[in-house]
Amino acid sequence: MQLSKDFERFRDGLPRPLESYVLTTYGIDLTSVYGGLRVKNPFGKASGQLSLARHQVERDAASGLGFVVLKTVIAQDRRGEQTMREWAIPETRMLVEPICGRSGERGWTVTWKGRGWFDSFAAYLELFHQALTAAEDAAMQVAPSVKYHLPTPKENFWKEDEYTFTTQALLEVWKRHRGEQVMPLEKDFSPTLAGSERAAEQAKILEWLGTVPRLVHRAAPGQVHVGLKIFNALFEDEFQLRMLDAVEAAPPGEERADFLAYANRLFDPAKQFEGKVGVAYGGPDLSGRNLAGLERFLALESDGREPGRVRERLPVSATGDIHSGRIAAEYLVRGASSFQMHTIFQLPDSEFTMRAGNKTDKALHQILFHPQDGFLVWLLDLGERFGLKGAQNVAETAAWCRDQWDKIIEPLSQ
Ligand SMILES: Cc1cc2nc3c(=O)[nH]c(=O)nc-3n(C[C@H](O)[C@H](O)[C@H](O)COP(=O)(O)O)c2cc1C
Repeated sequence: MQLSKDFERFRDGLPRPLESYVLTTYGIDLTSVYGGLRVKNPFGKASGQLSLARHQVERDAASGLGFVVLKTVIAQDRRGEQTMREWAIPETRMLVEPICGRSGERGWTVTWKGRGWFDSFAAYLELFHQALTAAEDAAMQVAPSVKYHLPTPKENFWKEDEYTFTTQALLEVWKRHRGEQVMPLEKDFSPTLAGSERAAEQAKILEWLGTVPRLVHRAAPGQVHVGLKIFNALFEDEFQLRMLDAVEAAPPGEERADFLAYANRLFDPAKQFEGKVGVAYGGPDLSGRNLAGLERFLALESDGREPGRVRERLPVSATGDIHSGRIAAEYLVRGASSFQMHTIFQLPDSEFTMRAGNKTDKALHQILFHPQDGFLVWLLDLGERFGLKGAQNVAETAAWCRDQWDKIIEPLSQ
C-alpha cells in the first residue's frame, strides 16, 4: 500500500536522500559493498558507452547511483604500446531494440559495433579524475575497467609491463582523491572474445583467470581490489562453472581475485549488424543463463566436495538484464551484493513510469519502488517469509541468501 502510494508520489521526483527515506519508511538499509568499498545503495552503472564522459558520471552522481564502472580502457605499456589495440576502435551507433528470449519472455537488447575506449590513455586518466571529483560529494563509488593483454592460445608470454604501467597510472589518479583506500578495478574479458580465436582454448581462458589477478596485484601490492568480469563463453554451461570455480579456488594471496562481476553479454555468431556477422546481445536469455549459472555454482559450492575446507566466497556484482528490482532480487538470492546495469538506461521513456528526471532517476524509481516488480517489495517479502536472521543491509542479506539459497530460491519464485 505504502509502496503503491510512493511509486505514484515519486513520479515527479525521488525523495532525497533516497537511502534515509527508504530506511525510515521501510526499515530497509540499502547499504552494500562493491569492489571492497561501502556503497550507499547496490545499484550501479556497468562499464560501457554510458560511462565514458564527465557529464554522464555527474548526472549519475546527482541522481543517486551507488557506483559507476567507467568504460573499458585498453591497457598500454610505458611506451604507449597496446597489444589489445584492435579493441580500441571508434564506436558505431547503438541500436536499442526489443528482443524475445527463448522462454518467450520479452526484453531489450543493445546492438553496436564498438569495443573499448578509443581516445588516448591520458584522456582516460582525466576522465577518471573528473569522475572521482563528481562522485565525491554524492558518496558514489567509481571504478575503472581495463582490458589488459591476454595471450592467444598460440602465445605463452604475458605483457607484464602493460599490467604494471596501466595499473600504477590509474592508482596515481585514485590516490589523489582517495589516499590509501584500496582501488576497485574491473578486468574486462569482453564477450566478443568468445567469437574469436582467442577463446578457442578453454585451458587458455582458465590460465587468464588464474594469471590476471596476480599481475594486477603485483603492479600495486595491497592497493587494488581486482574484479574479474566473467564473460559468457560460447561453450556449454559447464564451462561457466569451471571458470567460476577456478577463480574461487585460487589460494589466498596475490593470485586470488577480490570480487567477480557476473556476467557479460551473450554472443550470437549468426546475427548481422552493419555488415558484421556475430554480435553480443542481452535480454531475458542473458539473465536466464546468468541466474542459472550462479545457482548451479552455489550448489557446487555447498556439495561438500572439499570436506574440512570452507572456501571463502568472493563477492559478486551482478550484471545482465537487470531491468527491474525483481531481477536484481533474483541475483541477490543467488548471492550478488551489487547490481550493475547498462541497457535499462537506454530504454525509451515509455518504459518508465516516472515523468520527471533523467534516465537514471527513472530507472531508480522503477527498480526500487515498483509495487510488484520493485526491489523494496521483494526485500520486504524476503524478510517476511524467511526472517533474514540478523542480516541488516543488502551485503549482509546477500551473504545470508548465499547460505540459505536452497531453502529460498524455489519458494520465492512461486
Ligand atoms: C553498448 C555497450 C557497450 C559496452 N561496453 C562495455 C565495456 O566497454 N566494458 C565492459 O566490461 N562491458 C561493456 N558492456 C557490457 C555492460 O557493461 C553490461 O555488463 C552488459 O551490457 C549487461 O548488462 P545489461 O543487460 O544491463 O546491458 C557494454 C554493453 C553495451 C550494451
